[in-house]
This record gives sequence, structure tokens and C-alpha cells, in this order.
Amino acid sequence: MAEKILKKEQKIKRHGFSVIFVHWAVAISTFVLIFSGFGQMPLYKRYMLDQLPGLSWVSDFSVTLSIHYWAAAVLMLAIVYHLVFHGMRRDFDILPRRGDVRESVQIIMAVLGWGKEPANDKYLAEQRLAYAFIGFSLLILVVTGIIKVLENLPQTNFSEGFIFWITQLHNLGTFLVIVGIIAHLAAFIFKENWPLLPGIFTGKINREYARRRHSIWYDRMAEKVHGED
Ligand code: HEM
Ligand code: HEM
Repeated sequence: MAEKILKKEQKIKRHGFSVIFVHWAVAISTFVLIFSGFGQMPLYKRYMLDQLPGLSWVSDFSVTLSIHYWAAAVLMLAIVYHLVFHGMRRDFDILPRRGDVRESVQIIMAVLGWGKEPANDKYLAEQRLAYAFIGFSLLILVVTGIIKVLENLPQTNFSEGFIFWITQLHNLGTFLVIVGIIAHLAAFIFKENWPLLPGIFTGKINREYARRRHSIWYDRMAEKVHGED
């Protein structure tokens, strides 16, 4: 396990390289997919983004399609790696649990100054829900995206109605993932969540914060090292 209490530094090792790699591979490829996906609609020409210096390629369909394919490959590689890595370790900390919706409401109310926050595990209930929501949206995009790639191959020919619905679903997935990312980033407007930020870059977070806010997780780690607290 990557996670442990680092007594000398007063920090907690929260994530290893794999988690940081997957987070940023997914985040960057998703940004590129959104940008290149919108490029396949005539948006950038209409709003003259392609008139800006160095950006004439943004309205070139063959360029944006090729970027979309490369980014899709990176996204799918990261997703497969993520599933195999956590599956093999039987590490399911971030999967939603019963009662997460109620607990998320409690956490959000507490952040806004009403009531007390429940004791949290490694992830807050709202993070587990965010993971499921973003994961579900990406799954829709990958499945429908693969069908759209097949349709683009000369030897495949799906019915027009089928492709119409696949495209609608691909667009729905795009909408959902954008909503998910906005909500994800909005969580960091609140100061309470700032201590998690260094963790997704360096893997380490403040020990006191973990002890106070993620007490279930902290106690489990402390127990493992027998009084190393
Ligand atoms: C500038 C952009 C971003 C920053 C600064 C950022 C930061 C973070 C941080 C600090 C965490 C918490 C990790 C922890 O609990 O230790 C996290 C988790 C996560 N991030 Fe991001 N993220 C960004 C972009 C994205 C994007 C674009 C996606 C999806 C396409 C994404 C998906 C996730 C998911 C699914 C989680 C786990 C659930 C959660 O904690 O909400 N992130 N991110
Ligand atoms: C975050 C993930 C993704 C986003 C936000 C996204 C977004 C978009 C958007 C907005 C379009 C243009 C409208 C449309 O035709 O539906 C599009 C088209 C397309 N996407 Fe994606 N997409 C994503 C992932 C994928 C993946 C994983 C694949 C392939 C495995 C894929 C393959 C395609 C294809 C083949 C097209 C149609 C290109 C054409 O018109 O020939 N997309 N995508």
C-alpha cells in the first residue's frame, strides 16, 4: 500500500505514482477530448477561434479528429490501467456506499456552517459519488466513442437510426462529464477541501488534516503501525 503516516514530515502519503498518473492522464485527455470533440462541430470557425495566430488548425476536421483519436487512446489506456491496478489490489475505497447521498448533504451543510461533519474514511462521501458520476459519464463516452470509430471504418455500416442515437448518447456523455468536472473543480472553492490539493501532485497531504477530517482512514493507518501515532 502506498499510504502511510510520515511521522517526521508531519504528512500522510495518500497516493502513490499510479493514482497520480491515472488522475492526470484522465484529466488531460478529457480536456483534449472536449476541445477536439467540439472542434468537429463547426464551432471554432463560427466563433473565429481559427483566426487567432497559430490556431488555424482548430477548424481542420482531419486534425481535430486525429487529436480526438490519440486522446481517446490515452484515456482508455488510463482507464484500463486504473481498473486492473485497483482490481488486483482489491482497493475499493473510492466506490460509493449505502448512505453516501445523505452523508454528502451533511458534509456540504457542515461546510456551509450548519451542523457537524460525519467522521470520514479515505474519501468523503461526495468524492465517492463524484467518482461514480464522472466514471459513468466516461464509460458512456468510451462505449459510444468506440462504436463511432467503427462506423468511421470503410468496412462497417451501421443503420442511420442507430448511429443517430449513439451520437446523441456521445453528446449526452460530453454534457455529463463537463457538469462533473465543473462540480469537481467547484469543490475546491471551499477552503475545507484545499488540503487535498497537494496530494494529487505530490502524493502527500497534511497529517493534522487527515487526523481531523479523515479520522476513520487515519485510525486504520495508525492501527496498522501499532501505536506509531
Ligand atoms: C485542474 C484540474 C484538476 C485538479 C486541480 C484536480 C484535483 C483533484 C484533487 C485534489 C482530487 C482529490 C484527490 C484526493 O482525494 O486525494 C481529485 C480527485 C478526482 N479527480 Fe480531479 N482534478 C482536476 C481535474 C480533473 C478532471 C478533468 C477529471 C475528470 C475528467 C478529474 C477527475 C477526478 C476524480 C474522478 C477524482 C476522484 C473523486 C473526487 O475526489 O472527487 N479531475 N482531483
Ligand atoms: C471525455 C471523453 C470524450 C468527449 C468529451 C468527446 C466529445 C466528442 C464530441 C463533442 C464529438 C462531436 C460530436 C459528435 O459527433 O458526437 C465527438 C465525436 C467523436 N468522438 Fe468523442 N468524445 C470523448 C471520447 C471519445 C472516445 C473515447 C472515442 C473513441 C474511442 C471517441 C470517438 C469519437 C468519434 C469517432 C467521433 C466522431 C467523429 C466523426 O464525426 O467522424 N470519443 N466526441
